[in-house]
Amino acid sequence: MRIYQPAEDSFLLDEFLDKYLKNHKVETYLDMGTGSGILSVTALKYLEKKNVLAVDINPRAVKQLVDRGYYVIQSDFFEKIDGKFDLITFNAPYLPLDKREPLDSQVATTGGKRGDESSLRFLKQSRKHLNVGGKIFLLVSSLTPMDKLRKYKPKAVAKRRVFMEELIVYEIIF
Ligand SMILES: C[S@@+](CC[C@H](N)C(=O)[O-])C[C@H]1O[C@@H](n2cnc3c(N)ncnc32)[C@H](O)[C@@H]1O
Repeated sequence: MRIYQPAEDSFLLDEFLDKYLKNHKVETYLDMGTGSGILSVTALKYLEKKNVLAVDINPRAVKQLVDRGYYVIQSDFFEKIDGKFDLITFNAPYLPLDKREPLDSQVATTGGKRGDESSLRFLKQSRKHLNVGGKIFLLVSSLTPMDKLRKYKPKAVAKRRVFMEELIVYEIIF
């Protein structure tokens, strides 16, 4: 599986996260679907190393970050994760399935047949991993169907238009 290289979606969430951490007290952070680790690198500017946990299903992404000394766990979402966090981010695979896309990059880009399945599965599992007052920042796109995601009352906190789509960071509080 290829490691997802930071792109416009990563940069939007990363810039938002940087500003957020500069202005808010966050002690524990989970970087779901860490990929290259771009968001963990930013979080480490503000948080203690022991309080930043990166997670990815892709063993190559995990190995790269282990080799660099990060706290990282290979897991399918929260399957192997204990504990609760003040903040969880996920730059989700958000595109509807396109069978022409190579299988080894689908895990980073395809959110399921409709495009929202990954995000919905992530959110369903997230609730019990948030501290009281904790929140989630989820990045999806205008190409992701929102009808089912709306039940989480997502609030758009950052947006960027890129070619044919708009990237959106949603804040979700349970
Ligand atoms: C769009 S990439 C984002 C990578 C990185 N956070 C960034 O912003 O550049 C999505 C990442 O989620 C990971 N991922 C997909 N499904 C996952 C799952 N079920 N559990 C954990 N990670 C998953 C992929 O391997 C990929 O690294």
